[in-house]
Amino acid sequence: MVLRTLFFGLLFTLAGCSSSVEEVLTDSPLENGETLYNIHCLRCHGASGDLGASGSKNLKISVLTSAEIQQIIMQGKGAMPAYGQTLQSEEKVAWLSEFVLTLRK
Ligand code: HEC
Repeated sequence: MVLRTLFFGLLFTLAGCSSSVEEVLTDSPLENGETLYNIHCLRCHGASGDLGASGSKNLKISVLTSAEIQQIIMQGKGAMPAYGQTLQSEEKVAWLSEFVLTLRK
């Protein structure tokens, strides 16, 4: 009985961990930017911006302005896909840019 409880406890814990990041938005632009970044950008740029997967640029040492970052997110660049179609929202692009800028510190 105890083992059974343990087994199902473990099962639910694992299920909880393996669920993908959900797009849960708050009223904080920066939090939303981070949420969207984790969903769309993490696999190439990494949590601190310098993963460099798929030849991605290091966001920690990037010198682009917010407007330039937003344009790259919208239109893509080189091996980086465009996110304009996926995001369908200027606000989301602005949140992402705001979060990307915090990676420089
Ligand atoms: C498939 C991998 C991949 C994903 C996913 C990805 N990027 Fe990129 N990113 C790249 C690559 C590759 C470059 C370099 C493009 C070039 O200059 O040719 C780049 C460049 C950039 C740059 C320009 C940096 C500079 O200083 O030139 C920014 C900003 C950026 N990415 C932000 C993002 C954001 C925000 C997301 C999520 C919405 C994202 N990227 C998702 C691969 C990716």
